[in-house]
Amino acid sequence: MASRRGCDKLIEEGKVEVNGKPAALGAEINEKKDKVTVEGVAVALPAEHEYFIMNKPKGCVCTVKDDKGRKTVMEFLPEHAGRVYPVGRLDYDTEGLLIFTDDGDLAFRLTHPKNEITKTYLVRIEGSIGDAELNKLRGGLELDGKRTNKCTVKVTETDKGATKLHVTVSEGRYHLVRRMFEAVGKEVVFLKRIKVGELSLGSLERGKVRRLRADEIFYLKKL
Ligand code: URA
Repeated sequence: MASRRGCDKLIEEGKVEVNGKPAALGAEINEKKDKVTVEGVAVALPAEHEYFIMNKPKGCVCTVKDDKGRKTVMEFLPEHAGRVYPVGRLDYDTEGLLIFTDDGDLAFRLTHPKNEITKTYLVRIEGSIGDAELNKLRGGLELDGKRTNKCTVKVTETDKGATKLHVTVSEGRYHLVRRMFEAVGKEVVFLKRIKVGELSLGSLERGKVRRLRADEIFYLKKL
């Protein structure tokens, strides 16, 4: 309505009422329950932000509109989702955890390179991978003339000629995980993001969306 001092003035002038009674300077209100009016007009809080988590399927792009007419992640959002947009990107062929919000501050902080927010991926490659390659991935390797950050790489399963790994990176470079593996001679045949920081995709089904819980939003805001 006004600056802090301007609001004090409105209160002193008796223009502000809380639940139909003149407001007192310094009195506390419950902004969810109490009705505040200024000169008889109800004061509304700015709308709260929206936060969703999606299990993105492969075969869609992380843009609001695609100029090549491909399916976009927006098509999986419920109608009531509001004006949210995806935070960061996953490739067309990558699936997994994608956050949507209209909270620009949070989106900025989650994607800013300086903040090095970790992202964990489930990676499948054909065949096996040796210690030399694993250590190259972990220690950082050169991509486009710039070394990748150190990262965590754990082999979680080896069977039927394939290897599954969990890889935690702290950068958001284009096709980062696929290109890291390519640099050690391995092709990624399946890629899924399972965590952003400690926020986990959990059992959310492919193509499904849900609202983030308050504790999850609180966690992301503290990252
Ligand atoms: N790394 C990739 O190669 N692709 C993604 O979508 C995310 C990380």
